[in-house]
Amino acid sequence: MITIPQQVIAHRGISASAPENTLSAFKLAKQHGIRWVEFDVSLCRDQQCVIFHDDDLDRCSNLTGPLALQNLATLKQGDFGSWFAPEYAGENILELKALIHWLHTHDMYFNLEIKVAPNIAWEALVESIAATLPETAWLREHCLVSSFHPAALLAFSRLREDVPLGILLDEPIHHWQDWAEGVNASTVNCNYDHLTDAFANEVIDTGYQLLVYTVNTPEQFETALRLGATAVFSDNPEELMQS
Ligand code: G3P
Ligand code: MG
Repeated sequence: MITIPQQVIAHRGISASAPENTLSAFKLAKQHGIRWVEFDVSLCRDQQCVIFHDDDLDRCSNLTGPLALQNLATLKQGDFGSWFAPEYAGENILELKALIHWLHTHDMYFNLEIKVAPNIAWEALVESIAATLPETAWLREHCLVSSFHPAALLAFSRLREDVPLGILLDEPIHHWQDWAEGVNASTVNCNYDHLTDAFANEVIDTGYQLLVYTVNTPEQFETALRLGATAVFSDNPEELMQS
């Protein structure tokens, strides 16, 4: 079991009100009293870990094309805020090590999602994440690492047996228990759109904590809690906290 500080997790930060996966979005979570944030870690061309969701840069920056083809120096020149709103112009891309430092300084909890883009050397991504996370008691109590990518999560689990893990599912898969057991997972993180009563029961009865994404309305939140979710990922977690 991992410690779950709250029933809501800020998905990519408070991504409904600030550009996703930026320091502004994580600071906003802290300002609203949300102590647990989720973010996506991707690998750029010179094998540096950065906080970014998409394979391509187009949607969330003023750059274009695959993130994996750009060096960190180029990414640092990009604007990762204007796409969202003018007041966020000049928002920088976040490096994993800088974000971990900020999370530690502010005693935040976090779910780090290993984001494996097509055709990237995911082994390098996994090794880099494993090397960047400090081997401390704070880390063990505040961090959950997850991925949709079974091989990447397995490789990570072998490098860092001390870090709690969650398997990430879109649609329920047949052999999810083999995967969860193989990495000694603590949580099963499921897509709300595909979650059934039966599958939620299966997860909980097998002894895993159920996390559900992405839950943005009070009605969905109520349903997820009724199904036994320990917590939900939300773009507007501060609104759900008040519902
Ligand atoms: O970890 C929950 C959620 O973040 C998984 O989907 O695409 O938003 O990274 P995605
Ligand atoms: Mg994610």
